[in-house]
Amino acid sequence: MTVYEFAKGLILEAGINVKKIMKQDIEIETKSNPNDLVTNVDKSTEKYLFDNIKKTYPNHFVIGEEGHGHDLKDEHGVVWVIDPIDGTLNFVHQQENFAISIGIYHNGEPYAGFVYDVMNDVLYHAKVGEGAFENGTRLPEIKDTPLKTSIIGINPNWLTKPRLGDMFKPIVDEARSARAYGSAALEIVHVATGKLGGYITPRLQPWDFAGGLIILSEVGGRGTNLLGESLSIYEPSPIVMANQKLHAELIENHFEKHIETVRLLQNRLKK
Ligand code: IPD
Ligand code: CA
Ligand code: CA
Repeated sequence: MTVYEFAKGLILEAGINVKKIMKQDIEIETKSNPNDLVTNVDKSTEKYLFDNIKKTYPNHFVIGEEGHGHDLKDEHGVVWVIDPIDGTLNFVHQQENFAISIGIYHNGEPYAGFVYDVMNDVLYHAKVGEGAFENGTRLPEIKDTPLKTSIIGINPNWLTKPRLGDMFKPIVDEARSARAYGSAALEIVHVATGKLGGYITPRLQPWDFAGGLIILSEVGGRGTNLLGESLSIYEPSPIVMANQKLHAELIENHFEKHIETVRLLQNRLKK
């Protein structure tokens, strides 16, 4: 069995477990602030994934939101970048619209990406060079769209922040419309399926984007920081994910105008 096939089976099993545990009481804790939540399901799902990866591939490395591999910097070998529940607020408040996300890298190069929309039982998956799939159906190459006919994924909370608002509001104004789904991983795969033209956020962790970025790249989309530079699975970054045309338009017509804010965001996250 290839690592890709193993990962595909594992993420589906993890989803079955999530559905089972959800029927019992969900224990909720706060993390960095009252709106940053974690549950027993986030923790047990990461443990389930970690234990099974290590049992099958003892030499593989794991970076997971809930505590694994946060100090890992070495690109050598196989690295799994995991978000056990992406969209925890949706999970807690809605019991839907959340995903399990896995990106697998080999010697620093992307190998395979998985985003599992658990409650809708839709697995988005891609192995580099072999195309991207929504369950068993191959996703077509995404079409270029200009901002004026695109729907943009953006969390409205960012628009109320003065500097970020100055940069992001004109994008929302110019776009056909904006949406916030509350799960970065799902928003990135919505770009890959063309439901969104692009997804923008000033801060995202590697486990939020690693799986989705590989899927998006396989259908011809582009994901970078707001300067157009490549993303690293070892550090957080401001993010723009979009079809090629929209990606270029956003950088040239919007982010370059706000280069000071963009650099400030980038530098703050490096600390
Ligand atoms: C969060 C979600 C959310 C995004 C945040 C992420 P979590 O992940 O993806 O949509 O705006 O930046 O932290 O905490 O639910 O895994
Ligand atoms: Ca996340
Ligand atoms: Ca999470």
